[in-house]
Amino acid sequence: MIIAVDGPTASGKGTIARALAAHFGLPHLDTGLLYRAVGRQVAQNGGDPDSPADALAACGFPDSLLDDPELRSEASGGLASRVSVHPAVRRALYERQRAFATQPGGAVLDGRDIGTVIAPEAAVKLFVVASVPARAERRFLEMQQAGRPVSLAEISADLEARDLRDRTRAEAPLLAAPDAVLLDTSDLGKEAAIATAIRLAQARLG
Ligand code: C5P
Repeated sequence: MIIAVDGPTASGKGTIARALAAHFGLPHLDTGLLYRAVGRQVAQNGGDPDSPADALAACGFPDSLLDDPELRSEASGGLASRVSVHPAVRRALYERQRAFATQPGGAVLDGRDIGTVIAPEAAVKLFVVASVPARAERRFLEMQQAGRPVSLAEISADLEARDLRDRTRAEAPLLAAPDAVLLDTSDLGKEAAIATAIRLAQARLG
């Protein structure tokens, strides 16, 4: 049983994916972290995230990097969005995600292209969206709690830039699979969003 949860940044897809994994007793992979790790590794190498060669060279990042809290920063998200446009980077990260998705018993993965590229056969596909103001507000509160001072205007601008890059890139753009269920969390609190996602997943699973 594969559950694919796709959507833009701060749409609530990560929270929903973790809750679905706990509810159905499945392992969960946040695939954005892989792209964030590549982005950070490029920076640590002194490379250019817009260079396909520099980005590909960073795909061999050590697993320990995935635990670095810095991966959650806005800067890492921006770097991830830049390295993720390179087809060679997407290919380099494909097998790891595919192996996770197809492990015996099933899995929950969240990202941008899980339902379209990584696991098109997923039993459940959710495409989670929310308005830019709702997402910016959430990210702002998260950053405040994490002690990272960023203005709401900066966050909105960053979200819009990343959305544009993710939606318009040539390879694996952010796109709802034709058989995905749309879940708009703009007006939903965390618990309501989770309850709705579980209901939708259960309906899909029959
Ligand atoms: O989900 P998160 O905000 O952590 O993702 C960071 C960036 O990584 C996204 O903006 C996107 O460009 C990229 N990404 C991707 N494909 C995925 C997951 C993330 O291209 N499956």
